[in-house]
Amino acid sequence: MKLYIETLGCAMNMRDSEHMIAELNSKEGYDLTDEPQEADLILINTCSVREKPERKLFSEIGQFAKIKKPGAKIGICGCTASHMGEEIIKKAPSVNFVLGARNISKISEVIHKNKAVEVGIDYDDSTYVFDTSRNTGVKALLNISIGCDKKCAYCIVPHTRGREISIPSDMIVSEAKKLAQSGVKELMLLGQNVNNYGARFSVQHKIINFAGLLREISNIDGIERIRFTSPHPLHMDDEFLEEFARNPKVCKSIHMPLQSGSSNILKKMRRGYTKEWYINRVQKLQSLLPNVGIGTDIIVGFPGESDEDFEHTMDVLRKVEFDTLYSFVYSPRPHTESYLWGDEEKVPQEIASARLAKLQSTHREILSTKAKKEIGKRHQVLIENIKETEGSFSEGRSDNGKVIKIPDEVFKIGDIVSVEVIHSEGGSLIGKHIR
Ligand code: 5AD
Ligand code: SF4
Repeated sequence: MKLYIETLGCAMNMRDSEHMIAELNSKEGYDLTDEPQEADLILINTCSVREKPERKLFSEIGQFAKIKKPGAKIGICGCTASHMGEEIIKKAPSVNFVLGARNISKISEVIHKNKAVEVGIDYDDSTYVFDTSRNTGVKALLNISIGCDKKCAYCIVPHTRGREISIPSDMIVSEAKKLAQSGVKELMLLGQNVNNYGARFSVQHKIINFAGLLREISNIDGIERIRFTSPHPLHMDDEFLEEFARNPKVCKSIHMPLQSGSSNILKKMRRGYTKEWYINRVQKLQSLLPNVGIGTDIIVGFPGESDEDFEHTMDVLRKVEFDTLYSFVYSPRPHTESYLWGDEEKVPQEIASARLAKLQSTHREILSTKAKKEIGKRHQVLIENIKETEGSFSEGRSDNGKVIKIPDEVFKIGDIVSVEVIHSEGGSLIGKHIR
């Protein structure tokens, strides 16, 4: 039996797809294929954080329905499945089942039921032991919690993934050990709000927070690097920042989703922090780790965002000099607080697009200036990508998250090598191996 799967959205969704692939492989004998035409089961693992990918869903279902083998099934999973549920089958009768983002462990049940809709967001699979994917490389994703308890005014995720529950730490540690034995060197810990780890378990559990979990995982032999996504700036207390800085296995790059630099807008967004708190946390982090890599997410055009509010966002952008930026125009989403607000505070599309362009071009300038300053610096790079034929190179990430390309050298994937940055091209770094 063959499985074709398309995955949209965040790292959490990638992990959910890996879980479904592993479950379907070990329990139902499915192998992956890249050709939807030859699949017996086609899965689309959807994202609904913004409107655009959601709009494309139905045209995609139509295309798969046309080219699929007779008798092949189509299943819609993930966040859009969670919030549209049965409506998907009503609109697209070629769909055989709908499986919400909070119900992934039921995959091998629903494939046998026609027109099954499993989208309950109270379902708790925080203690479910998923089969481990077979083809893990040097890097692996590992869930540490499910759901999200925040109420950010723009965000659909609490509605699609339900309340936040931490996965018991012994389960996480035992999965991490298994991964280390299979050759994994770098773990990416996943949760909607990782640094709130330990706030609630669904079983009796010892008291442990995220800093404690990092300590436990870093004791595992074979795990050389630990990353995580996404932490919330509100929960970046000193204990967390100090553990992050001090623990040698924790990579020195961090995602700090800003969303807006204006304290007024942050309040309307219900983010729970101010511009000053955010900058204070960045300064604390930079004082502990001057070379720390910082990434962020920013939304422009949130209802009521004035030119002055946007200038506060630009101000934070310039002060922090982010290494990576994911930026979006606000997209109203159903089941969110801001969806219900009237039109009077709506930011016109042209203004929002112009703000996005300004933000992105300023960020590119910052990156290129920063890349020049990197010349001469040395890093330990974990090789993730190689090209052996003409124009050979190796490429990987430094522990502070910078992608560095090493021309004319072919290492093995998984090698950790010393590299000196020799020049920069735009924002990209080129290095040479230091023997
Ligand atoms: N509109 C635009 N961007 C959004 N994000 C979340 N919800 C919305 C929305 N309604 C962005 C946030 C979040 C990232 C995953 O997607 O920046 O951090
Ligand atoms: Fe991930 Fe959010 Fe998209 Fe769901 S809606 S896949 S949680 S980004």
